[in-house]
Amino acid sequence: MNSEAVLTDYSAYSLTVPKSLMPWMRSNHAGETGAVWIYKAASLALWSSSIRQMATEHIDTEHEHLLVMTHLVPANERSKLIVVWRIMGFGLGLFATLFGYTFFCLTISAVETFVEQHYNEQIDHIIKTQQSPSLLALIQRCCAEETQHKLDAECYLKSPSDSVWVRVWLNLVKVGSSIAVQVAKKI
Ligand SMILES: [Fe+2]
Ligand SMILES: [Fe+2]
Repeated sequence: MNSEAVLTDYSAYSLTVPKSLMPWMRSNHAGETGAVWIYKAASLALWSSSIRQMATEHIDTEHEHLLVMTHLVPANERSKLIVVWRIMGFGLGLFATLFGYTFFCLTISAVETFVEQHYNEQIDHIIKTQQSPSLLALIQRCCAEETQHKLDAECYLKSPSDSVWVRVWLNLVKVGSSIAVQVAKKI
């Protein structure tokens, strides 16, 4: 899909973001940048066709989300740390591939669960403050697509990992993502 078709498909063309929601949108733009780079790194995992396949399936949606957020967030409102988010996304994606497909799915499940919660917070906020129904619909769609990514990763997982190290890693992903959102809202 070309960029015009994507923006039309997400009904993003004529949408303008209320000033008060811009920090959220800045963090979305940063997060979708990170997501694209996670899957870019994963698509380089020559040792695992399963990892590469999931990366290929998910990266198109992440590209669409990034395109939409790039359209919604003017250049002067974007995070100044875009290079950092790219490097962190790539590093996270690459590390996640190093310990096999199960570890990769656990990591993707943790990342996408975080993103789903991040979008759900915005949905609740927009509903509560009765702002921009069209932006609400767009965020709900993005959120549903992140949920699908989470479910894709989880359908390969038979049970949650009971390894302490894996749990430490997944907590690190969660805390790191939360810090990144807070920073991207401001800088
Ligand atoms: Fe996304
Ligand atoms: Fe995603």
